[in-house]
Amino acid sequence: MKDLLIPNHVGIIMDGNGRWAQERGLPRTMGHKHATGTLKKLCVHMVDLGVHYCSIYAFSTENFKREKAEVEFLMNLFITFFNKEMDYLKKKNVKVIFSGRREPLPEKVLEAMDDIVKETKDNTALTLNVCLNYGSHAEIVDMTKKMCEMYKDGDITLDDITEEFIEKNLYQDLPPLDFVIRTSGELRLSNFMMYQASYAEFYFPKVYFPDFNNEEFDKALLVFNKRNRRFGGTK
Ligand code: IPE
Ligand code: IPE
Ligand code: MG
Repeated sequence: MKDLLIPNHVGIIMDGNGRWAQERGLPRTMGHKHATGTLKKLCVHMVDLGVHYCSIYAFSTENFKREKAEVEFLMNLFITFFNKEMDYLKKKNVKVIFSGRREPLPEKVLEAMDDIVKETKDNTALTLNVCLNYGSHAEIVDMTKKMCEMYKDGDITLDDITEEFIEKNLYQDLPPLDFVIRTSGELRLSNFMMYQASYAEFYFPKVYFPDFNNEEFDKALLVFNKRNRRFGGTK
């Protein structure tokens, strides 16, 4: 892995948990549970590689359409994960932040989120942006409302509305995505960070997320290193 260009901001759409479980004759929820172990190992790997930012898609605004039991399982899993892994991530110097709407997340989930943010706020290795109850459409709506409020209060003028202003007023002030990985072979964004992914490279491995281990991540990095990013230029 020497001399490889490491993307500054990686996005991971962690898809295929349900199919992973179903293919093993297990309930879909077991796929979600297994995914947390995969994620934990990946975070440590990214710290070792020197990835600065990673945005993970944990739950979309549309995922509330799922059966109540699956949604409840996921909410409880978030609570356990954030509470249980807090010390571990803290020791590994990972800073956890969130993107998404707080409404209608259960109070206990919000508390666990707030705790892990507070506990890891001074960490400097990897910033892990957890997209939870996140959707790009909702993010743009929420940003627009915030901007209109500022305009109404006289805090900004029309000239203040620039690309930089918009980037600063999304859920989190993050650098653009360099590399977006979606596991499980689906070829779509499903409302994930549309604004931030405008010049990202995309990679769609067939493997389901619970099997997306560190070797799979290294394979993805090799693919990233073969891409020619032109950003509208000619080189
Ligand atoms: C991704 O896995 C996890 C979430 C959306 C929370 P899925 O649950 O979508 O798994 P598949 O796509 O049904 O296999
Ligand atoms: C996208 O996966 C959301 C997350 C990975 C959290 P979905 O499984 O919900 O996406 P669709 O429904 O297949 O587009
Ligand atoms: Mg899916």
